[in-house]
Amino acid sequence: MGKIIKIGLLGSGTVGSGVIRVLEMNRPQITERVGTPIEIKTVLVRDVKKPRPQLGCVKLTDKIEDILDDPEIDVVVELMGGIHPAREYMLRAMEAGKSVVTANKDVVAQFGKDMFAMAEKKDVDFRFEASVGGGIPIITPLKQCLTANRITEILGIVNGTTNYMLTKMTECGADYDTVLKEAQAKGYAEANPSADVDGLDAARKAAILASLAFNTRVQLEDVSVEGITKITPDDIEYAKDLGYVIKLLAVGKDSDENGVDVRVHPVFLPKTHPLASVNGVFNA
Ligand SMILES: NC(=O)c1ccc[n+]([C@@H]2O[C@H](COP(=O)([O-])OP(=O)(O)OC[C@H]3O[C@@H](n4cnc5c(N)ncnc54)[C@H](OP(=O)(O)O)[C@@H]3O)[C@@H](O)[C@H]2O)c1
Repeated sequence: MGKIIKIGLLGSGTVGSGVIRVLEMNRPQITERVGTPIEIKTVLVRDVKKPRPQLGCVKLTDKIEDILDDPEIDVVVELMGGIHPAREYMLRAMEAGKSVVTANKDVVAQFGKDMFAMAEKKDVDFRFEASVGGGIPIITPLKQCLTANRITEILGIVNGTTNYMLTKMTECGADYDTVLKEAQAKGYAEANPSADVDGLDAARKAAILASLAFNTRVQLEDVSVEGITKITPDDIEYAKDLGYVIKLLAVGKDSDENGVDVRVHPVFLPKTHPLASVNGVFNA
């Protein structure tokens, strides 16, 4: 058994508290697979006074230096979200010789280049599997397992909120405003749902996937984006009548004739297509 790997966790919200729970729940299996225990040493949050029973006796702080200046911390896991100050904190962590793991698609899509450069310069790892597709292993397969292939097309449902809303509109014939309110009540959609319903969240993920699949740099502004706000119950009915379902897809193509083309928009998908039966908040 090697030395304990100590983690500095940035953020203890939906995903951060899930990480704490999984590390605790699967402790024996994780220790056996890694060959050494993994321990969360310090957690950075905005409000240290908020009750957080899931943290037990883990140290809580609102000062990033408590993590960046701690030589015992090997890995920084960034789960705060947003660009600032997450981007700066991750760069500083790598500068300090710590590997970084993040679920932050905003930073990876916009500033991935800086992150990879810093990781290479400091010879540390920068991992972002959770930034696209949540529980679907897709980043590592694209970077490693599939490297001998020329990938010409990627196609995916990469936003759970909009997939849930379109599923409800299809199953119940409900209109856009009704399903949005329901998605907000269930905590799937934010109070300001723009990032999801306007397709920007999916576009960031499409940019990340296309960059890896086509071995190039696709930025958010290179992605043609249309969300689901204009979809009406009539559209859903027409699709049904013609044998289709409407899905918000991320589509990337790389061809010799047209180069790289990346887009996010609602499509009529034949009911027999494998992605047509992916419903609710699921990605695929
Ligand atoms: N939620 C999902 O289903 C999901 C799925 C995949 C990926 N992601 C990504 O995972 C990341 C985290 O998402 P989330 O839903 O867990 O977010 P969240 O619930 O809003 O939690 C954010 C956490 O970060 C802390 N935080 C935010 N800004 C901070 C700052 N400036 N200084 C210190 N602490 C700060 C907050 O502290 P307080 O608790 O004190 O407010 C909170 O604990 C995002 O990048 C998101 O895109 C989320």
